[in-house]
Amino acid sequence: MGDLVKKDQKVSVTKNGPYLVSGSLPLATELSAVDADGDPGTWKKGERFPERDTYALCRCGGSGSKPFCDGTHVKIDFIGTETASKKSYLERAHRTSGPDLDLTDARDLCAAARFCHRAGGAWKLTKGSDEPRSREIAIQEAGDCPSGRLVAWTRETRDPIEPEFEPSISLIGDLWAKVSGPIWVKGFVPIESSDGTRYETRNRVTLCRCGASGNKPFCDGSHIKVQFRDDDKDSNG
Ligand code: FES
Repeated sequence: MGDLVKKDQKVSVTKNGPYLVSGSLPLATELSAVDADGDPGTWKKGERFPERDTYALCRCGGSGSKPFCDGTHVKIDFIGTETASKKSYLERAHRTSGPDLDLTDARDLCAAARFCHRAGGAWKLTKGSDEPRSREIAIQEAGDCPSGRLVAWTRETRDPIEPEFEPSISLIGDLWAKVSGPIWVKGFVPIESSDGTRYETRNRVTLCRCGASGNKPFCDGSHIKVQFRDDDKDSNG
């Protein structure tokens, strides 16, 4: 996997500034729609932005032209220090083993999207994965986790079960919490730190755009606490 990403496609974190996106990565909004029980059930694609070769996405939460940077980070003295671990996902993840499925979980990456809550939750479903429907929902829930906190693995071959993504970027909207969520980077697009090193390249990661995460550059769910909205042009997270 990851062979769809082109050489010039990447997201670079700048020091106390925006994310610089290169390689004509498609940009769209994507909304988490809730089911009858109020749990997120499906992702729905929204507005697609006109294609650009490069663009700068706001990271401080304060831009008046969200999702793009307008230089506000300088005016508000945004401190965007990167505190996330550079250890690999598997070094940090905890494994839950079930009869027909494994589930790995790196809690520090949680973006509070809540797709793992349905039908008793991904962990319980994994433990009951000898039941085909439980196995199927556990795989769906892990695959719908935008941050890649959760990954389902086949028990037999120990292969990860990953959704197929075109390299692209989605701006998450959380319809239930009525907030705007993180920047969902899909399809093994490299994320370059402001120190020039790279984070582990993964199929799905979520980057903070509210400015409030304690695990920068990744989202830690703080956008709910600060009620971040990208239609609030004067917010600074
Ligand atoms: S967008 Fe989720 S913590 Fe900032």
